[in-house]
Amino acid sequence: MGKNHPVGIFDSGVGGLTVVKAFLEQLPGEDFIYFGDTAHVPYGNKTQQQLLQYARDIMHFFISRGVKAVLVACGTHSSVTLPFIKDDYPIPMVGMVKAGARAACRSTSSNRIGVMATQATVNSHAYSRAIRDINHTCQVFEVACPRFVPLVEAGQLVGEELEMAARQYTLPLLQENIDTLVLGCTHYPFLSPVIAELIGEVCLLDPATEAVAELKAILAGNNLLKDSDSNSQAEFLVSGDEASFARVGRRLLGQVINEVKSITLAHG
Ligand code: DGL
Repeated sequence: MGKNHPVGIFDSGVGGLTVVKAFLEQLPGEDFIYFGDTAHVPYGNKTQQQLLQYARDIMHFFISRGVKAVLVACGTHSSVTLPFIKDDYPIPMVGMVKAGARAACRSTSSNRIGVMATQATVNSHAYSRAIRDINHTCQVFEVACPRFVPLVEAGQLVGEELEMAARQYTLPLLQENIDTLVLGCTHYPFLSPVIAELIGEVCLLDPATEAVAELKAILAGNNLLKDSDSNSQAEFLVSGDEASFARVGRRLLGQVINEVKSITLAHG
């Protein structure tokens, strides 16, 4: 896999597109293959065994397509499977958790940090560990937000149901006097306007910018940045329904999503 090969990017659905947005800003010439595992969304209620199988199937596919690196654009996989599989493949893999933890530690002054994430991510306490590895005086308050992903996948980015859920999830964090809130699931930046409205002065953090910066540094350090500055070639693949992915995805990325194909992955 050489420098002109694409980067593989994956998530359970449209969430990873919030990371693609940062990717397009920082690595505009790079080609990429995006895989949305919509046949298995939501990931947040799956077991570690299930998630490991999905991750291996996706990595098997990416390796067969010759990707030069993988951006794990999913907080759940970054927390639950990446630590176990990252040494199994001969290419760099970058996740969201360490990046989010670094950004949170830079942002906080009270050392009281909130994390909103999926149930699987919260159960793993990966964010808590990563933040406290950097600054052990930090207190980390994690809240699982299982109602968010189905709403985002359905394209419901405003409305009463969403606002009620957001109020329910932010309240315990505000009661802990956090000064920084990490969006620990890549679907949640779709909901930033609603969440920001509820948290006032608290700094709302999307780990995507930091994760893509890490990927860029790794590509540069391994002489894997693409040669030409031609426009990026993007491929969007899903394991479920193409139409709803395209509809919701275009609300964030517009016509960058020109075509979406549905594929079935072989077991890796
Ligand atoms: N967007 C993913 C994450 O960051 C997966 C969410 C889900 O499918 O539950 O955790």
